[in-house]
Amino acid sequence: MQKEINKIVLVGTGAVGSSYAFALLNQGIQGELVLIDVNKNKAEGDAMDLNHGLPFAPSHLKIRSGDYSECKNADIVVLTAGAPQKPGETRLDLAEKNTAIYKEIVGEIMESGFNGIFLVAANPVDILSYATWKFSGLPKERIIGSGTILDTARFRYMLGHYFNIDTRNIHAYIIGEHGDSELPVWSNSSIGVVPIKEWMAKNPQYKKEDLDDIFIHVRNAAYEIIEKKGATYYGIAMGLVRLTKAVLGDEHSVVTISTYLDGEYGHEDVFIGVPAVVTRNGIKTIIEMNLDDEEQEKFSHSVNTLKDIIKDLQL
Ligand code: NAI
Ligand code: 2OP
Repeated sequence: MQKEINKIVLVGTGAVGSSYAFALLNQGIQGELVLIDVNKNKAEGDAMDLNHGLPFAPSHLKIRSGDYSECKNADIVVLTAGAPQKPGETRLDLAEKNTAIYKEIVGEIMESGFNGIFLVAANPVDILSYATWKFSGLPKERIIGSGTILDTARFRYMLGHYFNIDTRNIHAYIIGEHGDSELPVWSNSSIGVVPIKEWMAKNPQYKKEDLDDIFIHVRNAAYEIIEKKGATYYGIAMGLVRLTKAVLGDEHSVVTISTYLDGEYGHEDVFIGVPAVVTRNGIKTIIEMNLDDEEQEKFSHSVNTLKDIIKDLQL
């Protein structure tokens, strides 16, 4: 029987984790939210601070700090713990350090008897999603990495700005590694239902070079923000709330997340960003788009980049 109240446990109340908690509260998610961090004071302080916003929140969320035993009956455990990039570092530079942290954290969570869904956001997210799957022993469908959800949001925002169209009516995906080898899927991008290529042909003021530029800005956005303010957190926090709602609401929403490929797109044994249908039970189906030859080649390169790291880490 389904529990009446949703329970979310958040591990890692740093910049990303606390922004996620704040966004949950502001978007009216109901249920329980438990905060865990190796820095207990930070988790306790965040729980106090967030609770003081309750009188202004759209609905009630029971917030407290806690320990890993709280994961036992959680619906979702969100993993935002781990080292972030320093200016100049790539996401993949964090692989060894954060995988070691995840071995410990996921071990503790599974010891509690957790049997829900993991949402993984820490970087490198595709590698840590794979590691979480391995360390937890849970079915692959129950590990959802944030993958390219943020890159896709950045892409849709920038395209919306360029074409002067509501970003929600831009249907376009970034797939692959959440990182330097990601790629845009121009062949399947549209404004409303009109393919972008057709839109461009009818409106010659729009140029292919500008679109190439937009993708470069998407790919480099994190570096630029980290250079300016040290970290990125609001965008991903809202993306994680989007995923939380998709799971708790059994929405069957199509979102670009990091999931396990088992033959889809011609690859297997890797977690990587692709569009997929997200439900209360995790990932239901991967959406397989028809990529053109160049996109397929770039996607394969991205897969191989991640597989090399997985091999080095001996996961
Ligand atoms: P942060 O340094 O502000 O927070 C990390 C938190 O994890 C800290 O509170 C720290 O005490 C905690 N922590 C570290 N080891 C722990 C352990 N063993 N157990 C429990 N808690 C532990 O870092 P920030 O900026 O919040 O970033 C967190 C992660 O999210 C990084 O890996 C970062 O690269 C990633 N990130 C991912 C994005 C995405 O699109 N997937 C976007 C932005 C950041
Ligand atoms: C981002 O893309 C750093 O992965 C993080 O903002």
